Amino acid sequence: MALVLGVYLQPFSSIINYFFLGVLIVTATYFLAPVLLRKWISDKDGNPLPPGPPIRYAFLRKYAELALHDWQKKYGPVFSIWMGTQLFVVVSDPHIARDLLVSNGAVFSTRKRYFMKNQIILRGRAITASPYGDKWRQHRRLATQVLTPKAMQGFASIMDYESHIFIKSLYKQGQKGKLPVNPAHYAGRFALNNMLIISFGMRTDTSEDPLVEKALDLAMEFMDLTGPWSNAVDFFEALQWLPTPKRSRVLNSTMVLSRFTEHDPEIREPRQKLDWEDLCMLSAVFTLGGVHSTSGIIQWFLALIPSHPHIAEKAYEELDRVIGRERWPNAADEPNLPYIRAIIKEVQRVHAPFWMATPHCTSQDFTYKGTYIPKDTVVVLNCYSLHHNEERYPDSYVFKPERYLGDDLGCGESAKLANVMDRDHWTFGAGRRICPGLPAAERELWLAISRLLWAYKFEALPDEPISLDEYEGLSGRTPLPYRLKLVPRIDNLDIVLQAADEVKITW
Ligand code: HEM
Repeated sequence: MALVLGVYLQPFSSIINYFFLGVLIVTATYFLAPVLLRKWISDKDGNPLPPGPPIRYAFLRKYAELALHDWQKKYGPVFSIWMGTQLFVVVSDPHIARDLLVSNGAVFSTRKRYFMKNQIILRGRAITASPYGDKWRQHRRLATQVLTPKAMQGFASIMDYESHIFIKSLYKQGQKGKLPVNPAHYAGRFALNNMLIISFGMRTDTSEDPLVEKALDLAMEFMDLTGPWSNAVDFFEALQWLPTPKRSRVLNSTMVLSRFTEHDPEIREPRQKLDWEDLCMLSAVFTLGGVHSTSGIIQWFLALIPSHPHIAEKAYEELDRVIGRERWPNAADEPNLPYIRAIIKEVQRVHAPFWMATPHCTSQDFTYKGTYIPKDTVVVLNCYSLHHNEERYPDSYVFKPERYLGDDLGCGESAKLANVMDRDHWTFGAGRRICPGLPAAERELWLAISRLLWAYKFEALPDEPISLDEYEGLSGRTPLPYRLKLVPRIDNLDIVLQAADEVKITW
């Protein structure tokens, strides 16, 4: 019987075999194509693409920065890689980053039309997704007007107040240092309230407000879905026609995102030729981007400090000497507390929230020192390798704030230095699209971290080690959940904290 069936099915099985063989050959050719493409693609003078791996990738593993770091050792400071149909160029050297992204900003400042981020979630709107052009300039003008260091003076009292509430909420939750706390929720609420006030003129008035968890979950979801290589669908166009579970997650996020903005009637007024949806997206991106990254840095600071008690001791010495114990530091004290400032810069270096920044894209063909970077190439700033450049940061894996002593510049000023080797770090990106929220983020980080150090001693729990190597998030990185004890360092902390209470802002 089996024999009869076998003879009967033989022609079909050989068709099936040929079919699978064909699929196998096409797939293998597709993924091995870079071997040939690297030989074939060149500019008119024969300059080849930057070197890189011989195969095409469908995705990169979770800690993608480690793969990039290995590749830059093997292929050099500018290498190229195909993800699906998309060519990427990865830049890992500070001089080259400056030459390309800053000096040739006219060519290196547009964005890829990512399918998930730009087309589905942000619907081609919002500053971070806009291609380089007039619409982006309008967004950018508005963003920089709201967020300049001068404009930040207008928000000074708000950030001052929110940092007060942040320190107080940790005090209350930790019952004066008796109970351990997970700081993520409180750091997230601090950053969220600042952004809600700047963007929508509202705040959450208790730590328990459900909007806090909702916004933090949404921010994490947004970051995970919009990383440079979060979705294979971004690089395999054919998949864009298929309804996938991830796509429904995205649509769900978009709906929640629009709910952020539906409460603010003022935002509906057309401003500077931006329509209502533009403004919604601009404000929502401020809120999501600003919250996740700023609170991430505060969380990394709190994760690092218990295992570096000698650094906390030096900070306490500086605070006691310059500020004393009767009042806590404020914004004007920053120039007089260089060690605290150095700690903040060092946290940003060792734990930048975005190891791959937000990729730029080329708007024209470009030839750089004998290599060809075609139009529409996605350009990744490899912050992980830049931040572990041993020439710039000796003992780069060591958390050593001292390396920043003598650096009195803010991150924005530092990014403009003529000698790129003097730049503090690359956490806020580079060139014409450098983070416009930088002055806000710096002010928030200063108030939160200097006051945490003034108010508390930081104790890890013996049975709950805090991991500094692993993290959550595919794009915006935050530490794995952890708890620590925040023990009051100041006798009259109670009295200082009583000076402000939660206020309600209605909208
Ligand atoms: C520590 C906190 C922050 C970090 C580490 C951070 C980092 C970044 C990075 C790496 C970029 C991409 C830059 C590039 O393309 O080269 C960026 C862009 C952006 N950031 Fe931030 N950011 C932070 C806080 C904020 C805040 C508080 C806001 C809003 C108030 C904000 C708003 C934006 C916007 C709108 C863009 C897009 C700019 C454009 O495409 O032209 N960020 N940020």
